Amino acid sequence: MRESTHPVRPGATREGDNHRRMEIGTSLSPVFPLGSRLDERGVLEVGGCDALELAREFGTPAYVVAEDDLRARARTFVGTARELHPDMHVVFASKAFPCTAVLSLFAAEGLWCDVATGGETYLALNAGFAPERLVMHGNAKSEAELRMALRHRVGLIVIDNLDEIERLGELIADGALGDREGGQPVLVRVTPDVRGDTHEKISTGQADSKFGFSMGEVRDAIARVESTRGLAMQGLHAHIGSQLLELDPFRRACAQLAGLGEFRVLDVGGGLGVRYLEDQQAPPAIEDYLAVAVEELAGHGGRLLVEPGRALTANAGVTLYTVESVRQNVSRWVAVDGGMSDNLRPMLYGARYEAEVVDRFGGSTLCVLAGKHCESGDVIARDVLLDDPRRGDVIVTPVTGAYGYAMANNYNGVPRPPVVFCAGGEARTVVRRESFEDLIARDTDPLRAEDLGI
Ligand code: LLP
Repeated sequence: MRESTHPVRPGATREGDNHRRMEIGTSLSPVFPLGSRLDERGVLEVGGCDALELAREFGTPAYVVAEDDLRARARTFVGTARELHPDMHVVFASKAFPCTAVLSLFAAEGLWCDVATGGETYLALNAGFAPERLVMHGNAKSEAELRMALRHRVGLIVIDNLDEIERLGELIADGALGDREGGQPVLVRVTPDVRGDTHEKISTGQADSKFGFSMGEVRDAIARVESTRGLAMQGLHAHIGSQLLELDPFRRACAQLAGLGEFRVLDVGGGLGVRYLEDQQAPPAIEDYLAVAVEELAGHGGRLLVEPGRALTANAGVTLYTVESVRQNVSRWVAVDGGMSDNLRPMLYGARYEAEVVDRFGGSTLCVLAGKHCESGDVIARDVLLDDPRRGDVIVTPVTGAYGYAMANNYNGVPRPPVVFCAGGEARTVVRRESFEDLIARDTDPLRAEDLGI
């Protein structure tokens, strides 16, 4: 992709649209990746790359990521943590965007990595994270996953329940630690009985949660860890939920941890929310968020860990789609070539997204942005204003850099989209689009498409 060299004409307006006139060269809604802009023709640029050219070159749907945005957010987190506390580390919650290019970028930026399964452990190690920088979570860790963690000597295993303590004890007695000295460092996960204001499906701090030990159980859990040979008790972990826009519940959760005593390591989880819509409440600044953990916990732990996922990646990514059809009945239905196979968040959490035609921002036609899947719930955004959308238009939905790729699926046999990194006007595929052959790659039946002449 070439870099647009045309100077921005301040105040120039695009011709031909009516309301919501968008000034070309003015900054976009803050939900777009850092450095995004409309060029002199009014076409969206992400990482210096023209969105129409991206769609032509890489096809749609496509996850487009501004590499500099990822790096900038990582640096802000790591730099701020360092300024606030001498031993505070930023642990990327890999579930937010478990793709090798993203993981290796964060590994290079000095982050640690939160993994919750054997698969995430594999991805993180493969992407270059040192094993001692891995923090392994999970409320239902399998024996194989625990063996893997012990064999690779991950930095911390976060113990979630009594069965896990027992199982770890058995595995270690069976020699799973090898010749490792000092035992396996572990944290005990606490459910602090704090309810953050977020969707119930991503709230985890309440008493009736499937994760962690209640405040009443935690001391017994610690005692059991301490009496298990081969486990090295380091401290506590809490994660009260995701997409949190208020600091207060986070502060209360930290205070609950502080009330449990002094520990070598305290991990306050993730959850810092992001802005999905321009008119939505802004999330707390990273600095204010980290300062809460330091204020509440600096006196109680040596090392502090914080585990952002969404706040590191969400705003760095956008999705490009192509309009396949437009129909008008009660509503104006704009159907695109993706949907719930590349973004499940609207369907699972009622999440809302902005959308624009990439070369005609600022339209005024009220539309329902629908996906291509065979159910009515497959709606990406219910109430978006688009500029007279028509077949072939390229549509962008911003803020799809977290939990889109991660939860993508093959519903209706739709191949999953590529991930395209953009920086300085150059674009490259870091994950290719799935092919139809990929859809049958795991079949053990010998029937092959080519035998049928497909
Ligand atoms: N640490 C732990 C132990 C977690 O379970 C999570 C997220 C995080 C850190 C990172 O949370 P974040 O900073 O990204 O909020 N699929 C949902 C989000 C599920 C979050 C699960 N755990 C969504 O699309 O909104």
